[in-house]
Amino acid sequence: MKTHIVSPNQEWLERAKEHILQGGVVAFHTETVYGLGANAFNDEAVKSIFALKGRPADNPLIAHVHRDYDISKIVDEVPAYTEKLRKAFLPGPLTMVYPSKGKVSRYVSCGLDTLAIRVPSSLAAQAFLREVDLPIAAPSANRSKHVSPVTAQHVYDDFEGKIPLILDGGACDGGIESTVLDCTGEIPVILRAGLVTREMIKSVVGACGVYEKKAGERPKSPGMAYKHYAPKCKTAYFTAEEIGQAIVCYREEEEKGGRPYFFLESGFAKELTKKGFRVFDLGETGEQMAQRLYAALRQAETQATLLIAIEPSVRGGVMDGVMNRLTRAFGRTNDET
Ligand code: TXA
Ligand code: MG
Repeated sequence: MKTHIVSPNQEWLERAKEHILQGGVVAFHTETVYGLGANAFNDEAVKSIFALKGRPADNPLIAHVHRDYDISKIVDEVPAYTEKLRKAFLPGPLTMVYPSKGKVSRYVSCGLDTLAIRVPSSLAAQAFLREVDLPIAAPSANRSKHVSPVTAQHVYDDFEGKIPLILDGGACDGGIESTVLDCTGEIPVILRAGLVTREMIKSVVGACGVYEKKAGERPKSPGMAYKHYAPKCKTAYFTAEEIGQAIVCYREEEEKGGRPYFFLESGFAKELTKKGFRVFDLGETGEQMAQRLYAALRQAETQATLLIAIEPSVRGGVMDGVMNRLTRAFGRTNDET
């Protein structure tokens, strides 16, 4: 199969729709990361996403819909606060988990009685979803555990020859995946931190919890239990206090004939560049770091033999999501992997 990277004009949108109606898989741009989509009503199509990605069978998918799609067709009664959240944040990088009506394929939610729904704001995503007028089950368009894709080329690198179309909407502005919010209880609870922050949600509905998995419990958002976002090169992770050790680690890699790079926020990046070290500069603010994180990891894996992260100093807001991705990419998470 030849994989085409195409602009989401009417002609290609119609071709994309044909593929979807025939049970095929189409990659598409969103404002967070690229998605790998299939008709959420079609069992075989949904199963093929898991096969393509090498995704564990217990990690549920998000159903993507256009802004005017009537979600009451697929989800049950929802708490009153969800209306405020939809008004405030949708279309946008917030995925809301509702009680499911069980109308979409059972493979979308992997047997859970809930369904995650996202209304992406990107023009390319909206055009595609409107054209098909179906819920599209879509994970991020990367091979399982690999770094999420923020350009059409990243998708191509993981799925060349395996999918027919990539709807190219350019680089993704957001850079990390949507916030996943459990909306089945009395107050909303964040299952995966992302671009819509806890502070933002609290300011609209007053309260917002953050899910913490208790020892031995099956995680509520199963995807969070896996090592994820990992570049193909070796990695190491140090706190800012451990900078001395990080430099020793860099030197040792060079002595072995390797090509180490640092991976860190602007302040340190500037200092270390002056001293002649190779660096990837993630920027200064949480938003910048979110936007650059995956692109930098994808670039790093083609250039570095060892990537050495120094923990950023910025905290709060979008950094909750950035730190979650960073510690997973570098194998530094407390969760079981
Ligand atoms: O920004 C995004 O959310 C991107 C773009 C493509 O929309 N999608 C994405 O999908 O990140 P994926 O499959 O990589 O991550 C989906 C996350 C996983 O952590 C999964 O466990 C969680 O959403 N999830 C999906 N359905 C769920 C459900 N019913 N209950 C709890 N968590 C759910
Ligand atoms: Mg993913």
